[in-house]
Amino acid sequence: MALRRELNFVLVAFLVQLFGSALTQELACSSTHSGNVYSFTVNASSPIGNINLMYVQHDGVRQIPLSTTVLHNALNMQVHAERQDDFRKHTCAVIVNQQTACSTTYKMTPAQESASSRTAFDRGHLTPANPNRFSAQAVSNTFFCVNIAPQDPFTNQNPWFTVEDKSHRYFASKDGYVMTGVCDANDRFSPTLDGYKVPSCWWKLICYVDTAGTTQVVGFIGNNTLIDFAGSPSGEKAVRVVDTTTPRGQQEILDVMTRDTFIMDAWTGAETYLRRNRGIVNTPTAANCRSKRTISAAVKNEWSSVMREGVLEHKYTSDVDLEAVKALWGN
Ligand SMILES: *[C@@H]1O[C@H](CO)[C@@H](O)[C@H](O)[C@H]1NC(C)=O
Ligand SMILES: *[C@@H]1O[C@H](CO)[C@@H](O)[C@H](O)[C@H]1NC(C)=O
Repeated sequence: MALRRELNFVLVAFLVQLFGSALTQELACSSTHSGNVYSFTVNASSPIGNINLMYVQHDGVRQIPLSTTVLHNALNMQVHAERQDDFRKHTCAVIVNQQTACSTTYKMTPAQESASSRTAFDRGHLTPANPNRFSAQAVSNTFFCVNIAPQDPFTNQNPWFTVEDKSHRYFASKDGYVMTGVCDANDRFSPTLDGYKVPSCWWKLICYVDTAGTTQVVGFIGNNTLIDFAGSPSGEKAVRVVDTTTPRGQQEILDVMTRDTFIMDAWTGAETYLRRNRGIVNTPTAANCRSKRTISAAVKNEWSSVMREGVLEHKYTSDVDLEAVKALWGN
């Protein structure tokens, strides 16, 4: 009996150590890569201690991230720091020369300028800055080039902003994972003047446990083909607003990706590394995030309402005809 108790004790101590370390460790940027996609964590200080802020999958060949994932909860509602716009390369030695130089603007070619009536692509954040203003280091670390890629200015500043803002607020009092990625096809307007790849689209996947205890995954796809800022308010711009803010099932996002297995790996990475020190209440399991491929009519309706409210209250940086938007919604 005594021996058995002793063995149980050793086993429990071993498990505590195993899971304790799984929650506390970081993943160095050099430690894992597959198909030239480097997976690693970026940490940051916070009012509740040092946390793993982002789980990054960085594509060393394309020199832009494939995805970055964060855990969102009440911490992300705290605002203690301003955005500094300190775009800079991540210092990890193996990828330091496999990133865009995002401290300078992503200048456009003449053809891109005439298609958009702009002079540069936006340096779009995969994981946005705003939900990470709980500490100066956290917001600053969203400006590493491994979290930045060329984005259509109209989409970034308007419907994609709505998608980000509403998904941020959705987690004011609950926990969930928010994964943001870029499509692995290049857009027809790729590359930028400096030769940086422009992805054909951006996507976001949000995984959480609903009040009934069911894991839900909601996705969004932001077409990244340039829109003309000077174009008709009721034309392509209205279509882009509606398309970008339409809630989708995970399978639709998997279908626009060639390397969709990385999405499955990122759910596991998020579960393994992002929960440390977060005071989490009810995060979904990675297994449930992976297996939830479709969106029910009820969940789609809920998120449609949330997004439509955002679409109507947004301050557009380029004229959009909201009557045309409502007509596309069928009301
Ligand atoms: C945070 O990450 C940096 C860079 O990878 C590392 O040097 C540092 O030890 C980490 N800090 C903590 C408190 O984990
Ligand atoms: C993306 O937007 C462009 C310009 O509006 C459009 O021509 C193209 O069909 C769209 N792509 C998809 C996949 O919807």
